[in-house]
Amino acid sequence: MIRIAHLSDIHFGGENVAAVAAAAEMIRAGGFDLTIVSGDLTQFGAVGEFEAAAAWLKTVPGPMLVCPGNHDAPYLAWWERFFTPFARFSRMIGPAEAQTHIADGFLVRGLNTARGVQPRANWSKGQISRRQTREATDWLCGAADGKLKILVCHHPLTEMIGGPMTAKVWGGSAAAQAMAECRVDLVLSGHIHAPFAWPYPFGDGKTYAVGAGTLSVRERGVPAGFNIIEADDAEIRVIAQAWERSHYTPYRTWSLDRRC
Ligand SMILES: [Fe+2]
Ligand SMILES: [Fe+2]
Repeated sequence: MIRIAHLSDIHFGGENVAAVAAAAEMIRAGGFDLTIVSGDLTQFGAVGEFEAAAAWLKTVPGPMLVCPGNHDAPYLAWWERFFTPFARFSRMIGPAEAQTHIADGFLVRGLNTARGVQPRANWSKGQISRRQTREATDWLCGAADGKLKILVCHHPLTEMIGGPMTAKVWGGSAAAQAMAECRVDLVLSGHIHAPFAWPYPFGDGKTYAVGAGTLSVRERGVPAGFNIIEADDAEIRVIAQAWERSHYTPYRTWSLDRRC
């Protein structure tokens, strides 16, 4: 059994303090193979917020893979946002692009769908370039079938249907199709602040888009929480945890048929 904790959108500077502390406690007790944080670690990309994020990450044991989100480019330091948008992330958290984790039974690749600036009014939306898609599929496709293949990025590559907000990822649909054709099992994301799981309408229908909620106080109609992902040879279960002010309870579970 593979067990992964998938957190997202902690937004240090606006985090749900009790929920964040309890999530670390749950991971410490839970025997997870990997912890994933899919971006928006901070609220404004401020140095103090990154310091808080880095300090919290140090309290979480075990291997970890973290990618940036749109909130992790400095909001106020516009010159950094323009020219070195993820330098703070790289300096204080880790690589902003092409993060990898290889373990028995699964492998994970991260990439950065956030941009400091874009030629459109809303810089919070996502982008994935053809180069990013190709490099990720090359790396993931190179692994033997039978291993669980996971891509992590901040923005959902296709829209969360019925969700509280959009991601409008340029290049997202083509990337999702490429992931399905490459037989990636899971594409994990955040940004929406609400959990979801469903198959892409591409390939054999067994590549799943899975989103984690938020551990910030910026809830969008869903309690703060995170996802626990459990995979055996036949099935992948995504169990969204909801913060109930003093503890977590399972909020929703999705059982996903795993590719043989
Ligand atoms: Fe967010
Ligand atoms: Fe975001």
